[in-house]
Amino acid sequence: MTLLVTGCCGFIGSNFVYYYLDEHKDARIIGLDKLTYAGNLDNLSNLTNEQKSRFVFVKGDINNAELVEYLLDVYDIDVIVNFAAESHVDRSIYNPRAFVETNVLGVQTLLDVAKKKWYINGKWKHGKKFVQISTDEVYGTLGPTGKFTEKTPLSPRSPYSASKASADLLVIAHHETYGMPVNITRCSNNYGPYQFPEKLIPLIILNALEHKPLPIYGDGRQVRDWIHVFDHCRAIDFVIEKGKDGEVYNIGANNEWENIELVKKIIEILRQLTNDELISEKLITHVKDRPGHDRRYAIDSTKIRKELGWKPEISFEEGLEATIKWYLNNKQWVERVVGGEYKEWYEKHYVRERKLN
Ligand code: NAD
Ligand code: TYD
Repeated sequence: MTLLVTGCCGFIGSNFVYYYLDEHKDARIIGLDKLTYAGNLDNLSNLTNEQKSRFVFVKGDINNAELVEYLLDVYDIDVIVNFAAESHVDRSIYNPRAFVETNVLGVQTLLDVAKKKWYINGKWKHGKKFVQISTDEVYGTLGPTGKFTEKTPLSPRSPYSASKASADLLVIAHHETYGMPVNITRCSNNYGPYQFPEKLIPLIILNALEHKPLPIYGDGRQVRDWIHVFDHCRAIDFVIEKGKDGEVYNIGANNEWENIELVKKIIEILRQLTNDELISEKLITHVKDRPGHDRRYAIDSTKIRKELGWKPEISFEEGLEATIKWYLNNKQWVERVVGGEYKEWYEKHYVRERKLN
C-alpha cells in the first residue's frame, strides 16, 4: 500500500507517519507538505533508517495540481490521506482567506487530480481512495447536553470550521456525482507530542514552565472533548482499511473537559513532575474571549466503534502525563518551534490584543 499523506509535517500528520510506518511494515508513504509556520520537517527526524527507506518527503502545496499529478503517477498512490490545512481557529479570525485557499481550494485540487488519474472510461481504478481528515467543529456548537453524531447538520461558526465544512461537502459531492471512493473522518480535539504551541494544551504547558500567565478565554467554562493523537491515527487506519465508500466517521474518546478544569489538571501534573512551587493556579489569567467561541463540543463515535471495531486505547490520565513529559524532554524541539513566527503570533494575539505580559 502506498499512501500520499499531505500535511505530513504538522502535528497529526507527523504522528500518523510514525504510526502507519510502524504498524504496516510493507507500506510506503509519500509525504507532501508546504512547510507553513505549523509544519516542521524536524517532526519526522525520529524515523528509523528502515522507516526512512519507506518514506519520501516532498515540499509542496496541495494547490499545485501538476506536482500532485506527478506524485500520483510516479509513486502509484493507492490512498490520499489529506491532513494539510490551516488549522487554528484564532488565526482564521484574522485571515480567513488563507483558510479558503488551503482548506477549500486545496481539497478541490486534490479531488480534481484524483479524478483525472483514477477515473478512467467512467470507472474508478481498483483500490483507490480519498480520505479527508475533517473535524467535529463542522457541526457547530452544543448546549450543555447531547453529542454530535454523523447525522447532526453541519453548522460551522468560525472561518476555520466553515472552510472544513466546505471541503466535506465537496468530497461528498464527488462521491455522489462521480462515484469517487471517499471517506471523511471527524475527530474531536487532539493532544499529544509535536503539537504546535499555539493550541491550548502545549501553550499552557510551555507558559507554566516559564511562570508566564496562562490565558483563559472568557470564563473558561467552554467544553472540549479530548483524544490522544495516537488513538486518532489508529482510527484513521481503521477507516483506510475498512471504511465503507462515501461514509463519514466521527472519532472521539468520551472525554469532555471544561478548559479551566483542564488547565488546573495540567498545573497539578506539572507541579508534581517538576516540584516547582511557582507553577500554580495563580498564573491563570482570564483574557478577552474568542469572537464566536463555540461553547461545547462532544462527539458520539458509536458508528466507528460498532461498524469498524475501533475504540480508543489511551486513557486521559496516562496520555496527558505522557504528553507533558514529552514537552519536558524535548526542549530543543520546543526552542526551535517557539522562535520566529510563533513569537510574532504571541505578541500580536496575546500581548497586544489581550494585554497579556
Ligand atoms: P497543523 O496545523 O499542525 O498541520 C497542518 C500541516 O499542513 C502543516 O504541516 C502545514 O505545513 C501543512 N500545510 C498547510 N497548508 C498546506 C498546503 N497548502 N499544502 C501542503 N501542506 C500544507 O494541523 P493538525 O493539528 O495536524 O491538523 C491536521 C488535520 O487534522 C487538519 O486538517 C485539521 O483540520 C484536522 N483536525 C485537527 C484536530 C486537532 O485537534 N488538531 C482535530 C480534528 C481534525
Ligand atoms: P484550541 O486548542 O485552539 O482548539 P479549538 O479552538 O480548535 O477547540 O482551543 C481549545 C479551547 O481552549 C478553546 O475553547 C479555546 C480555548 N483557549 C483558551 O482559553 N486560551 C488559549 O490561549 C487558547 C489557545 C485556547
